[in-house]
Amino acid sequence: MSEPAFDTIGRVFRDDARGRAVRLRGWVLRSRSSGGILFVLLRDRSGVVQVTGKRDVLGAEAFDAAEHVQVEGAISVEGTVADDPRAPGGREVRAARIVVIDAGLPFPIFADQTEEFRLDTRHLAIRSQEHAATFRVKAELLRAFREFLDREEVLETTPPVLTGNAAEGGSEAFRFDYFGRPAYLSQTAQLYLEALLAPHERVYALTPSFRAEKSRTPKHLTEYLHLEVELAWCDLDGLIDFIERMVVHALHALAERRAAELTQLGRPPAELAAIRAPFPRIPYGEAIAQLKARGLPVDWGSDLGTAEERALTLEEPTPIFVTRWPRAIKAFYMPPSPDDERTVEAADLLAPEGYGEIVGASCRDTDPERLARRLTEMGVDPKEYDWYLDLRRHGSVPHAGFGLGIERFLRWVLRREHIRDTTPFPRTPSRLTP
Ligand code: 4AD
Ligand code: MG
Repeated sequence: MSEPAFDTIGRVFRDDARGRAVRLRGWVLRSRSSGGILFVLLRDRSGVVQVTGKRDVLGAEAFDAAEHVQVEGAISVEGTVADDPRAPGGREVRAARIVVIDAGLPFPIFADQTEEFRLDTRHLAIRSQEHAATFRVKAELLRAFREFLDREEVLETTPPVLTGNAAEGGSEAFRFDYFGRPAYLSQTAQLYLEALLAPHERVYALTPSFRAEKSRTPKHLTEYLHLEVELAWCDLDGLIDFIERMVVHALHALAERRAAELTQLGRPPAELAAIRAPFPRIPYGEAIAQLKARGLPVDWGSDLGTAEERALTLEEPTPIFVTRWPRAIKAFYMPPSPDDERTVEAADLLAPEGYGEIVGASCRDTDPERLARRLTEMGVDPKEYDWYLDLRRHGSVPHAGFGLGIERFLRWVLRREHIRDTTPFPRTPSRLTP
């Protein structure tokens, strides 16, 4: 015989639920008892509700067992929904029966512990209301991006994560032994997406990328989720338009569908709903001039660090594009600007308020000789990239693409201090477990 169905806690708060019998199951957020009444805050995937149980209703033995359930212990409850202005949400469940599923050991996490301890106990810490809200927003963000890409007829593809090339620069690639040969964990799916572009024209992938960056900063992970898009017949302006529309769609979807979680996390949904395209587009040269005028120690040719990104975006309500970057500080596959050999057709999207680069975008060079030359200049043997150069020998067409770091994006959206708070099990130079 199958079990009678359980209700979700969300059901308790529906208009028609008052006076109804419900069966709930979940985890104990908090509990206390006084004068023969037990008060339990019960949580499931849909919400939190107060459950009250009286000793004389539940029976002495069941009451004692329920009273000894620890924080994060698991129980099931049968009871009746009643209005109670003192309960969170104005409703409670008056229990007729409480069954202990796992009373649990004393929960090790409580207020005022160090961040280090919380990271050591991350497997339990992720049960907090804050983490739960964060990862629901993250799931919605992924859904919104996929929804947009699907609507734009961009095909989801599945490039590998184990590779023989370090595409974004050798020093930041994790190298490992692959049956006696050197191999790398993927830093980007771009090269594979460029190959998949010929049969499909518009492709994307959502895969983990890995960066062996030792730098401990609030915006670097060693493993992050990378959304990468590659579009045929696309130039830099077309790419920038596409990115803008995708970003705005995602922000508006979050504001609409995760308003409660955003509010709970301190980000007013209306702020996200107010962000609209177009975003400002500033050529790199102009950005440098602006920064110099403000007294920052930068020269044409230097990369933008955290302080520079901050200065450019602190007052901006929307993200901004910085375009036409110096060739020397960008990747080998970026083509020169048509009217200036010193710069490349690239654009970085910088988040407002100093949250830094969230998207790296560029056109892709279609000239195999120039690509080979640039690889050689970087000290890489073009033979290692022969398969990539082959793409330029068989129906090569103009194309462009970008990569967006999901956790970077979410860090800005939720205004989190550290990027590790946007992923359940962060990977940083000092953290590999849990
Ligand atoms: O600018 P990046 O290095 O560009 C590429 O890898 C391109 N091949 C992508 C492409 O065009 N298909 O990385 C792209 C984005 C950055 O803008 C940033 O959002 C994120 O990836 N990112 C990181 N996120 C978290 N931790 C790190 N260490 C990151 N490094 C880059
Ligand atoms: Mg970049």
